[in-house]
Amino acid sequence: MDRIRIRGGRPLQGSVPISGAKNAALPLMAAALLADGPLVLSNAPDLADIATMAQLLRHHGLSVEHDKAARTLTMSGAATELEAPYDIVRKMRASVLVLGPLLARFGRARVSLPGGCAIGTRPVDLHIKGLEQLGAEIEITAGYIEARGKLRGARIIFPQVSVGATENLLMAACLAEGETELVNAAREPEIGDLAMCLMRMGARIEGIGTDRLRIEGGAPLLPATHPIVPDRIEAGTFACAAAITGGQLHLDGARLEHLGSVARVLRDAGVDVAETHTGLLVTRRNGLRGADVMTEPFPGFATDMQAQYMALMTVAEGASMITETIFENRFMHVPELMRMGARINFHGSSAIVRGVPKLSGAPVMATDLRASVSLILAGLAAEGETIVNRVYHLDRGYERVEDKLAAVGADIERLAG
Ligand code: EPZ
Repeated sequence: MDRIRIRGGRPLQGSVPISGAKNAALPLMAAALLADGPLVLSNAPDLADIATMAQLLRHHGLSVEHDKAARTLTMSGAATELEAPYDIVRKMRASVLVLGPLLARFGRARVSLPGGCAIGTRPVDLHIKGLEQLGAEIEITAGYIEARGKLRGARIIFPQVSVGATENLLMAACLAEGETELVNAAREPEIGDLAMCLMRMGARIEGIGTDRLRIEGGAPLLPATHPIVPDRIEAGTFACAAAITGGQLHLDGARLEHLGSVARVLRDAGVDVAETHTGLLVTRRNGLRGADVMTEPFPGFATDMQAQYMALMTVAEGASMITETIFENRFMHVPELMRMGARINFHGSSAIVRGVPKLSGAPVMATDLRASVSLILAGLAAEGETIVNRVYHLDRGYERVEDKLAAVGADIERLAG
């Protein structure tokens, strides 16, 4: 398994190209099931999760071409196989996003339950309840979601905000007869990006960017071309890289409004975040201050930024309280950061981080996508050498992160095998 070696202590300087967002690309790819296509996605990132979704769509019978040089994904054809098998779904939970499109288009679908992952049990009850409100009959049999029925519009009130459930229901509603209203819908920028793409395919959607989406469904969807929104979590991650090394990075293509309250929290911590014509300029000139944070649905502080922010707070002056409200087990980076000299106590969903003057490099273990990148951030600031093991987690969501960091001055390399 690949490892990444970092020798810390070098302030990063320069420009970083921000790739298309993983968490936008995955639902956008699933949307290709709603029409015969072709659906052409530009600004497509080259990630392991994208390859997994491509494998799943090919299993369903679509043709999927990923032109990595042109950074485009082209999906075309109609699904002929309506089952999403366990051996693919278990690799990537976002596979469940094919459920709504398959059911809405073909009147039935059989999708493996995704199961949990390192950060939590990750149930899909909100997806299922919403589809039942659109008229689907759904049974869980032998670990599979068996769904059938002709969908009709309905008013769906989510008892809690769910990105995936909002995406599944938004896509299904486009082909359900009549009007659907999604109340308490997630407002993450990736939802808005999906809605814009569906509109380009001919869907009629109102309320984009709000927590109340109204869809007039029933008409067939058409071929379209859509640019994938820049990855706000990658942008936030590199902002933390500039901050933790005391450097300055320009994040090409990043958008301030997509950072939500991450920008405000970084500024509270003493990091300068400025908009430019082509992205964001992130600078850390003086000391870092401890600033408390609680993860919340967008526009609150993104849970996908919690581990990266914690790495930053380990070398801030003073203490910070970090509370994780979205997932039940998203502190697995804590013991690894402590191996590097961080002072962290956590109990339940809250962690207290007391800043230390310096971290020290050490061999550490990645456990999930965002935890692995937080260890890289810590390594960039630590004295000495850090080896991050199990970096396959990293490759799921970050495109050539070591190359992008090396290009702005980091002493970092991937050790194969
Ligand atoms: C999406 O996951 C993202 N993944 C996650 O990013 C992100 O952390 C999460 O949204 C929150 O922003 C993709 O977009 C592919 P949720 P999703 O449904 O849709 C509970 C990363 O690192 N819930 O908003 O699965 C759930 O257990 C990944 O890129 C139910 O109880 O998240 C969680 O506690 C990690 N029942 C909370 O809601 C349901 O039916 C939020 O989950 C669905 C969710």
